[in-house]
Amino acid sequence: MTRLAVLSDIHGNADALTAVLADMLAFSPDLMINLGDVLSGPLDPMGTAALLEGVPNLTVMGNHDRWLLDPARRNKGWEAWTYPKLDRMTLGWVAGLPTGLVIEDVMACHGTPRSDTTYWLETVGTDGEVHRADPAAIAAEIEGRPQRLYLCGHTHRARVVRLDDGRMVINPGSVGLPAFDDDTPRPHRVCAGSPHASYMILDRQGDDWAVTHRLVPYDTARMIGLAQAAGAKDWAQALETGWVDKPAVG
Ligand SMILES: [Fe+2]
Repeated sequence: MTRLAVLSDIHGNADALTAVLADMLAFSPDLMINLGDVLSGPLDPMGTAALLEGVPNLTVMGNHDRWLLDPARRNKGWEAWTYPKLDRMTLGWVAGLPTGLVIEDVMACHGTPRSDTTYWLETVGTDGEVHRADPAAIAAEIEGRPQRLYLCGHTHRARVVRLDDGRMVINPGSVGLPAFDDDTPRPHRVCAGSPHASYMILDRQGDDWAVTHRLVPYDTARMIGLAQAAGAKDWAQALETGWVDKPAVG
């Protein structure tokens, strides 16, 4: 396993995923790893599931995938759009996703190895923006774990972090939703700043990995139309610009 394609946070954006899969063909990766939050959002969850069915990949479960399985959660928030559109086979596929994977010396998870809702490489500031996390706190999440490379998603922020001991933690950014706002633990936004679909190609170089960050353009019109039809103005803005408005803070 020398070349990995790593993607995350597709969030039902089938057209972004189509563009990423086409872009990926030129790299002929040995393995495609998908870090979760696959379907949730006001876009095209069944189209997304069909695309993933057609390509070999290893997928881990994200918090939004888990919430689709939870009767107490799946009728709220982004899942309220998504759950009614899913057929039983697709829900069964979601239910079978692992929360983490170890392949050779690589570990894949959604948030951190211990939590699918924790921001691993970012912290939420009092200014309503996210900032880089303390390297000691990043290392603490994988204390005692033997793998050399850790793959995470969840924050939609593409990052490569090298720890003091040479281990790496990499987030490929989001395929399908380049910006969002949230109110936990306090109001904040995360913005990639461009509408491209984000993913990464990783090439093993001895004990290390070379990283190619791909920002793939695609025609966002259909997805923006779906978001608008669902009344999701923040999604439409994010898909068009890579930004959402800064939440009121303080
Ligand atoms: Fe997530």
